Amino acid sequence: MVKKLKVGIIGGGEGAFIGAVHYRAAMLDGYYELVCGAFSSDPEKSKRSAPFYHVEAHRAYGSWQEMFEKEKAKPAGEGMEVVMITTPNHLHFPQAMMALDMGFHVICDKPVTISEKEALELEKKVAETGLVFALTHTYTGYPMVMEARQIVASGKLGRIRKVVVEYPQGWLSTPIEQTGQKQASWRANPKFNGPGGCMGDIGVHAENLAEYISGLQIDELCADITSFVEGRQLDDDASVLLRFKGGAKGVLHASQVSAGEENDINIRVYGEKGGLEWHQAEPNTLLLKWLDQPVQILRAGGNYPNLSEKTLWNTRTPGGHPEGYIEAFANLYRNAAYQINHFKDKSNPKPDHILYPTITDGVRGMRFIEKVIESAHSDQKWTKF
Ligand SMILES: NC(=O)c1ccc[n+]([C@@H]2O[C@H](COP(=O)([O-])OP(=O)(O)OC[C@H]3O[C@@H](n4cnc5c(N)ncnc54)[C@H](O)[C@@H]3O)[C@@H](O)[C@H]2O)c1
Repeated sequence: MVKKLKVGIIGGGEGAFIGAVHYRAAMLDGYYELVCGAFSSDPEKSKRSAPFYHVEAHRAYGSWQEMFEKEKAKPAGEGMEVVMITTPNHLHFPQAMMALDMGFHVICDKPVTISEKEALELEKKVAETGLVFALTHTYTGYPMVMEARQIVASGKLGRIRKVVVEYPQGWLSTPIEQTGQKQASWRANPKFNGPGGCMGDIGVHAENLAEYISGLQIDELCADITSFVEGRQLDDDASVLLRFKGGAKGVLHASQVSAGEENDINIRVYGEKGGLEWHQAEPNTLLLKWLDQPVQILRAGGNYPNLSEKTLWNTRTPGGHPEGYIEAFANLYRNAAYQINHFKDKSNPKPDHILYPTITDGVRGMRFIEKVIESAHSDQKWTKF
């Protein structure tokens, strides 16, 4: 049996959003045990958060630097080996750099940093250290997203012509950052969030999903961004036209002022012979569309031979028993654990079943955010990626 990886978390303290999601996802398959945390920038809050995570009080640290140092100093086999970074965006870079320098593997939330310059520096550090760096672009962890990627790669849809990706949310339709709402407050401040508001928060997920499923790389883009809510410093809505290498075209729409929308990320990809469609709100279903046949409905866990081995490997329940957001996160965690453990667990089928976004996705994501802003502010509009 492969030993559990000892993991620590930064962020996720009282009132936080995504830290607890990372925790639940990491625990799902039993490959990790949470041994320590720097749960908050407030040392008292960090201590108070420990029981929720079943972490011993003395391993709830007052700062992430203290956590790195004290865990590193523990006898071999006792200290943290992997760190999960679930803090606001401006902290990802210093935390990931120090973690890698000290020999810890990193599982980091997006956007990877607050500039492409930082992302490139981090990419160099990952290469130098040879440690695992996984980036939680959650949507790539869904089984039917993996299936969509493989269908495109198989050529069944023919040459890809068009990619339409949307990520509408409505929660920033009013200036809630001015009321002190925790998640909105730092996201509305470029110092903590980085330069792209809606683009940095959710546009970057849409960009990643479009490139992941289509297997194509954005080559040029033309963007229109807006801050609809009065007094807001960063964009809360964007429409982006895309040109991919090889000639395919695309449309990316992301908005946090689409009143009433939840997290309706969805994508359609069309080739010469057919198309596909996936919605997060119905994540276990993938629609395939053909020129000469009725629409085909593929379901995660389906008891038929259409689904690929990779998709089945990343599916936990039989068809009809819903899987969702936590499981998609958990797939990324489990796949990163296999990589960290050098595939020692023999229950693992094949290394190429192991998919998770890396620092390369992070660099492209930061470039995307910066290029969207550049295009939106330029008269020329079309901007080389
Ligand atoms: N992958 C996804 O689907 C997804 C979803 C939501 C958020 N995110 C990303 O996750 C990150 C966090 O977002 P959130 O919505 O959970 O924010 P949040 O404000 O709810 O939580 C941030 C946490 O970080 C802690 N923190 C801040 N400074 C710290 C410090 N110096 N030391 C230790 N802890 C510190 C805060 O106390 C809080 O616990 C962001 O980068 C965001 O883009 C990703």
